[in-house]
This record gives sequence, C-alpha cells and structure tokens, in this order.
Amino acid sequence: MKNSLKKLNSFGVESFCNEIYIIKSYENYLQIKQNLKEKKIIILGGGTNILFKTQNLDYTILKVDIEGIEIIEDYDENIIVSVGAGVNWDDFVSWCVKNNYGGVENLTLIPGNVGSAPIQNIGAYGSEIKDVIYSCEGFYLESSEHKIFNKNECEFEYRSSIFKQKLKNKFLISKVNFRLSKKNHRINTSYKALSDKLIEKGIKDPSISDISTLVKEIRESKLPNYNQLGNAGSFFKNPVLKKKNFEKITNKYSSMPFYKMSENEYKLPAAWLIEKCGFKDICENQVGVYKNQSLVIINKGGATGSDIYNFSQKIKQEVKNKFDILLEEEVNII
Ligand code: EPU
Repeated sequence: MKNSLKKLNSFGVESFCNEIYIIKSYENYLQIKQNLKEKKIIILGGGTNILFKTQNLDYTILKVDIEGIEIIEDYDENIIVSVGAGVNWDDFVSWCVKNNYGGVENLTLIPGNVGSAPIQNIGAYGSEIKDVIYSCEGFYLESSEHKIFNKNECEFEYRSSIFKQKLKNKFLISKVNFRLSKKNHRINTSYKALSDKLIEKGIKDPSISDISTLVKEIRESKLPNYNQLGNAGSFFKNPVLKKKNFEKITNKYSSMPFYKMSENEYKLPAAWLIEKCGFKDICENQVGVYKNQSLVIINKGGATGSDIYNFSQKIKQEVKNKFDILLEEEVNII
C-alpha cells in the first residue's frame, strides 16, 4: 500500500491507497476493470474537494482524465457543448469567455475538474452549475452500463446532486453537456460583492469577460491558492434555518448577515458563525482558518489529514455550543 495521494489532493496531506488507475476513456475503464481486485473504489477528479483523513486507505482510486471540448449542437441563440470530465474547470470557463459563450462566467476560477463540478453543483457569485447543465453522461462502475442523466434526473440541490448521494462512487461521470448562450447573455450581477465591484470600476453594462475578470479579482483577494496554501475551498456548507430558529439567533445577534431563501428559510454564512466562535487567527498543529475567509480551513504545511479533521470537528462543536447549529461538511471526508 504505497501509492501516495499527496499530489492528488489540494490539502496536500500525505495518504496512501492500494492502487491508482488513470481513466482516459470508457474503453480504457473496461480494460482496467478486469484488473480491479476489490470493490472499494474512490472516483477522484481534481482532488480539490476532498480530505483524506486516514493515512492508509484501503481503497483503489480511479482518477478521471477524460479530455475534450466539443460543440455537439449549434443554434442561433445557444450551443450544446460536451466537455470531458477531466478538463480543468477554469480552463473550460476561459474557453467559454474567449468564445463569448455565456453561462459559466460567474464560476470563474473554481478549482477542480469538469466531471466533479455537477457532483456538488458548484456555485459562486449568484450562479450554480445546474443553471447551465443540459445533461451528464457516464457509466456505472459495477455493470459498465452507460447512462445519460438529463438535468432533472441529476437531482440538483445546494452543493449536492444524485452523484453525491445515491450514486457516490458508483457512477463515473465521463462527460458533462452544457447549454450556453451565444447572444442575449443573461449577465448575473445579483451577488453583492460583484455588484459592488462593478460600481467601484464604473462598469455599467458588463460583458461576460468583465464578469469573469471581476470574479477572478474577488476570488483572488478572498481565497487562498492551494498551490501555496493547502485547502479545499469552503469546508462547510452555509446552514439553512427555518424562520423560528433563525429569529432566535438574529434577535440575539442583530448584526448577523443572512440571505432569505423563502418565507420560511434563511441561509446563514457559516464563515460569520465560525468567526464569532473565535476561530480567526487560530492555528493548531499547522491547521487554521484562512485570514480572509473563515469558511476555508488551511494546511499551513505538514498537517496530517486527521489534524485537519480534528480541527474541523472542533469548529463544528463550538458552533453547535454557541448557536445550536450543526454545520454540515461540504468537503468529502474519507
Ligand atoms: N463572512 C464572514 N467572515 C468571513 C467571510 C465571510 O463573516 O471570513 C460573512 C460576510 O458577512 C459575508 C458572508 O459571510 O457577507 C458571505 O461570504 P462570501 O460572500 O464570501 O460567501 P460564503 O457564503 O462564505 C459561498 C460559497 C463559496 C463561494 C462564495 C461566493 C458555500 C459553502 N460557499 O461562500 O464557495 O465562492 O459563496 O459566492 O456556499 C466553495 O464552495 O468552495 C466556495 C468557495
């Protein structure tokens, strides 16, 4: 068991697994399948949303490396583009921006690969990937059966989908098909940080490229680059509270920011809750929260997966004690 995963996870923690196979295509998987001795499999994309808590993982890793960007339908107003699961997400966004295809510009610079993006329905600055997904295709590991999931069948939710729930490590996404606009783009400036930036720059009628550039600027100022400081983006999801529970907290902490989702549901920023529990500028066993965004747990160098995990559970416990809210991990923990 000496296959190192250190370079395959953005936390940069050392961990070992039984075998690692690189999957380049469906046919390639069929060949590899004959050698798969065991059933415990982890499908790995960019490794940017995973924490290897255990040092020695009794698993086989399938690393998806399917390439290609191909326009499969071309209409007057929009296109359907089919993208290999192994394509780097931000490379795909750059391709779209360069060609003036609209829909993913708010998701600029999100780490990871295209195939992992629908699994957790990536989202940022007012957009979610589900808004532009046409379908996801791939195959079941066990039966090798090929299937295309249309958008409804993907069961998208906030940072979740059928691929993160029922089909986790059972279905390998090989391609994601997107519907993108060619004209009359729906520019989304609803997110406050973004609209503030547009005002600051004096941009009144932003293009796709403007949005992408500004999102890049905001992200770079708030989020650490994992090549310099190990992290996996937001460690927890933002909790959604029913009105009654929300009012209990907001009565006590009137300065708490929130986002009203419906009459009875309010989303709270986990970063704010974490900060209020005193986790800013705290470092334990080389693990801490990032100075510009408390939702991001960082490896300051040399932390183990269990150091990071223990620190995250401490945060979770403090938030539970202080606010009676149970944070849910966004990162996959193995
Ligand atoms: N806040 C704090 N302290 C902080 C940071 C933020 O109190 O250190 C409060 C502020 O009041 C701020 C609010 O939290 O207004 C929201 O912060 P921000 O806009 O930075 O977004 P977020 O809710 O913390 C979410 C996503 C991010 C995404 C941003 C921008 C989740 C779990 N995270 O973070 O996604 O980039 O919105 O849209 O929904 C990721 O998933 O890895 C990720 C980085």
